[in-house]
Amino acid sequence: MRSLILLVFAGVALACGDDHAHAARDGHVHDHSKREFPSAKLTPPSRPLTWGSLNILHTTDSHGWLLGHQKPSFPEPNYSGDFGDFASFVAHMKELAIKKDVDLLLVDSGDLHDGTGLSDGYPTGGVDAHASNEFFKQLPYDVLAIGNHELYIYNNTLDMYTNFAPRFNGRYLSSNVNITVDGVSKPVGSRFAKFKTRKGRAVTALGVLYDFTGNDQNTTVQKVEDMVKEAWFADAIKDEPDVFLLAGHMPVSRDNWPLVFNAVRAVHPLTPILILGGHTHIRDCLQLDGRSMSLESGRYMETIGWMSADLPEPKSHHRRHNGEDHSGHGNGGSGSSAAKNITFSRRYLDPNRVTFEYHTGQGNFSFDTPWGRSITKGLEQLAKKFDLTFQYGTAPHDFTINHCYADCTDCEQYARGLDKIMITNSGSMRFDIYSGPFTKNDQLTASPFADTFLYIPNVPFAVANAVLPALNGAGADNRKRDNAVEAELWARGYVGTRYREWMEDMARRDAELGAESRRAAANLTLGYVTQDSCPGVGDDIPHTPLEFHAIPDFIASASPAGLADDAPVDLVFVDFIETQLIGILNGLSTDGKTYTTADVSKYTDVLATEMLGIYAQQAWN
Ligand SMILES: *[C@@H]1O[C@H](CO)[C@@H](O)[C@H](O)[C@H]1NC(C)=O
Ligand SMILES: *[C@@H]1O[C@H](CO)[C@@H](O)[C@H](O)[C@H]1NC(C)=O
Ligand SMILES: *[C@@H]1O[C@H](CO)[C@@H](O)[C@H](O)[C@H]1NC(C)=O
Ligand SMILES: *[C@@H]1O[C@H](CO)[C@@H](O)[C@H](O)[C@H]1NC(C)=O
Ligand SMILES: *[C@@H]1O[C@H](CO)[C@@H](O)[C@H](O)[C@H]1NC(C)=O
Ligand SMILES: *[C@@H]1O[C@H](CO)[C@@H](O)[C@H](O)[C@H]1NC(C)=O
Ligand SMILES: *[C@@H]1O[C@H](CO)[C@@H](O)[C@H](O)[C@H]1NC(C)=O
Ligand SMILES: [Zn+2]
Ligand SMILES: [Zn+2]
Repeated sequence: MRSLILLVFAGVALACGDDHAHAARDGHVHDHSKREFPSAKLTPPSRPLTWGSLNILHTTDSHGWLLGHQKPSFPEPNYSGDFGDFASFVAHMKELAIKKDVDLLLVDSGDLHDGTGLSDGYPTGGVDAHASNEFFKQLPYDVLAIGNHELYIYNNTLDMYTNFAPRFNGRYLSSNVNITVDGVSKPVGSRFAKFKTRKGRAVTALGVLYDFTGNDQNTTVQKVEDMVKEAWFADAIKDEPDVFLLAGHMPVSRDNWPLVFNAVRAVHPLTPILILGGHTHIRDCLQLDGRSMSLESGRYMETIGWMSADLPEPKSHHRRHNGEDHSGHGNGGSGSSAAKNITFSRRYLDPNRVTFEYHTGQGNFSFDTPWGRSITKGLEQLAKKFDLTFQYGTAPHDFTINHCYADCTDCEQYARGLDKIMITNSGSMRFDIYSGPFTKNDQLTASPFADTFLYIPNVPFAVANAVLPALNGAGADNRKRDNAVEAELWARGYVGTRYREWMEDMARRDAELGAESRRAAANLTLGYVTQDSCPGVGDDIPHTPLEFHAIPDFIASASPAGLADDAPVDLVFVDFIETQLIGILNGLSTDGKTYTTADVSKYTDVLATEMLGIYAQQAWN
């Protein structure tokens, strides 16, 4: 395995060396359809799920990964379930819930856009994720929340408003997110929802977005701290339901959930509160108090979250039985058991047919439902329509972002030959490349952001060369600046730092294991190893983590050799980091020059989404 990082610049270098490169060679279409059944032997889950009186299946940050992970390299087969398989899983789980006479809700926490060919591979003139969302709309979601990726482009938000939200009859929630249509600002979905579960539980649901600032014109994100002061908010939470379901595109740790939680707790000290978060792409769980649990369920359909809670009898039943009305007393509607901690469980499922069959008690031949099959078929047809199997070349081996960071001789030679400095944020590389056919779909998953390349010409070499370390916050002087850059990237939606911290932490814990545990771990397959703050073990299948090699937030091509400090060089960068880069550059500039956007020009017509294909066409054929 080698690093994906240098490939980026190799691609840009090639693209810019020969603007016609991408037309030079026709890709050949391989009509190999999706592997319907995992080719690898998959480990079944370790133990049955714990069911409560109310249960939740949770998806978040799916980013278009509806055909599942289909590469044979580890640990991808573990996530090979597609959305049709998931639909069959949901159908069987709903039946189980009825048999057990309990509630089962399906919740999504946003980010349906940007990530695979199914969402991003649409023909010119289309709208991102419009087609893939048609499949999302077929699932019986009870509550959905808007994500930041629904807001980078006005047209995407408009599509959610016009075509997506109406399907869910008031359950697509955007408590603090508005869109302006015909000059009128209004919620993209609904601000809150109140409904009854099958078992008669009264639910009050919200859908909250973290303090995101990268949204397009004519969309509005209200800060969470302001939202909880709104009159509508106070109104929405005033009456006591049986349970609050706070869905939202906001990480369950180190963010603003406590603001929402405390606002509800101030009125209802004991009512159960279930929080379903997202955005940082990690598996995480914590309890803000003994009558609440917060769950975050990973990314890219690599995780299905499970939460169960032993809630008191619904108030409506209670009332019927003893004629009391508990509303307004803030006691969870359960009389004497009100003050006790609620028993919760949570589990992170690896979505694949083996997991799904295990937990539903189905076999390979009884698992599929006609509905699930039709979704799988529809997704395959969409992939065909978008020509996602168009092949640029054959990747000679795996190229990973974090799992191996050495030995990159084949692409280094391109990078070394450059007479300029190219900088991008490492988050522009979204997913690993695995050995084998490199297709249009792979290009879009590895580099889904249509960033343009900009440049400032004639920057003194010594100054240009210092930009990368400064952006990455090397040196005490830069620490403050680094935090500001970090905060700015976070506000605009960059989550790579948190995700990598999580991966790094699991690799570090693994390295600290004693010899005996290591031997036991030798039996385990690769995957996520979650340590969260909730009681018990969260992962459905015990794994051993992938090795982890840190990469910084910003990355650059190898600096040109043998240049004098004052030699003029081109400083090339992606538009996503323009503001930070100019700020840093001005801090470094010694000759008194102040750079502004007026010094910046477009470097090439090639977009970040295209360069890996250009590279593959030249180097991998
Ligand atoms: C994960 O994938 C690997 C590689 O295909 C496989 O050997 C392993 O059994 C899978 N593990 C689980 C838990 O599904
Ligand atoms: C937005 O979508 C409309 C059609 O729905 C299209 O005419 C328009 O060109 C799109 N705008 C952009 C900027 O993509
Ligand atoms: C969102 O829309 C509602 C309803 O039109 C409006 O009252 C509110 O002021 C808007 N909020 C923001 C932050 O724009
Ligand atoms: C935002 O709305 C204004 C007024 O309706 C319009 O002129 C402008 O083009 C819109 N911007 C975008 C990005 O849609
Ligand atoms: C109830 O839960 C809280 C928070 O998880 C915990 O601190 C407390 O010890 C629990 N109390 C009991 C009696 O288990
Ligand atoms: C599962 O069933 C499908 C047909 O529905 C079959 O092609 C496949 O080989 C079966 N796999 C196993 C492991 O039995
Ligand atoms: C590995 O798994 C096998 C089969 O389940 C078991 O017999 C063996 O004891 C395990 N080894 C370790 C070190 O746990
Ligand atoms: Zn996301
Ligand atoms: Zn997000």
